[in-house]
Amino acid sequence: MKKVLALIASPRKLGNCEIFSKEIYRNLGSDWELSLIRLPSLNIKPCRACYACLFDRQKCLRKDDLYFVIDALLKADAYIIAAPTYFLGPNSSLKTVLDRGLAFYAHLDELWGKPSVAIAIAGVKGLEGYSKLAVESFAKLVYSDLRGSDVIYGALPGETLLEEENRKKAKRLAKALLGKRQHPKTPVCPLCGGDTFRILSLEKVRCMLCSNTWNIQVRGDGKVIFTAEKPQHRLFASLDEAKAHAEWLRGMKELFLKKRKELKALCLKYAREGTWLEPGSGS
Ligand SMILES: Cc1cc2nc3c(=O)[nH]c(=O)nc-3n(C[C@H](O)[C@H](O)[C@H](O)COP(=O)(O)O)c2cc1C
Repeated sequence: MKKVLALIASPRKLGNCEIFSKEIYRNLGSDWELSLIRLPSLNIKPCRACYACLFDRQKCLRKDDLYFVIDALLKADAYIIAAPTYFLGPNSSLKTVLDRGLAFYAHLDELWGKPSVAIAIAGVKGLEGYSKLAVESFAKLVYSDLRGSDVIYGALPGETLLEEENRKKAKRLAKALLGKRQHPKTPVCPLCGGDTFRILSLEKVRCMLCSNTWNIQVRGDGKVIFTAEKPQHRLFASLDEAKAHAEWLRGMKELFLKKRKELKALCLKYAREGTWLEPGSGS
């Protein structure tokens, strides 16, 4: 049996993220088994930026459910990542896990290239904000091979599956998970397939999924031509490039040690300014 893991970033039991993910699973075929993790129910603490997971034992020192998630990712053959839109972005449980992502580098070889699909659920048509980008980003930053993504609309629990068109979308996402990447008809980043761009000028855009910059030209027939203006960073393009990025991060330790005194002297000049307000401090 092959294992598909659904990461559900919604607190709502039998809500749209859950049932839509289960609908995708139903379309995978009988040789798949489904496990699910409800991310908002987990105890995942904020990253402390200590970088311990990149060095020495290559393990995060925080005592919480992070390695429960990493173990589940390691055991799975494929992922479904689903988040509801909360205030024009994904439920924060998704980002809380992602913020601990330096700890994923120790498992790069095993995590690399597992097929995934990503779904953003939104209650109001057009009000998904950056949720689709966020679920895609999560999929990429756990080093999976993002084969398809979509925004699915529905506010009430279960509403997404009232629409036949959404059931068809679930079928298409299952097909993408099993086979080839789903290509949107709109322009996509040639490097990572992302379709969210920041317009830097009339001729230049930056892909918000992989952060590469492109020159663009719109042809007479409306097709958008992307050309790279300088060597691009290729974080998601190959395992070797991802490893090289991890090495670059580790190399920053040398730079820090070299500049430590200078940086500390600079930071200390700001130490006494302002009053920190904390719960219970009486202010
Ligand atoms: C706190 C909160 C904020 C929300 N913000 C948005 C929003 O900005 N845009 C939107 O389209 N839907 C928004 N919704 C609606 C949910 O995305 C929608 O109900 C969705 O179906 C929830 O998925 P679930 O059933 O898997 O929890 C919000 C819901 C909640 C509870």
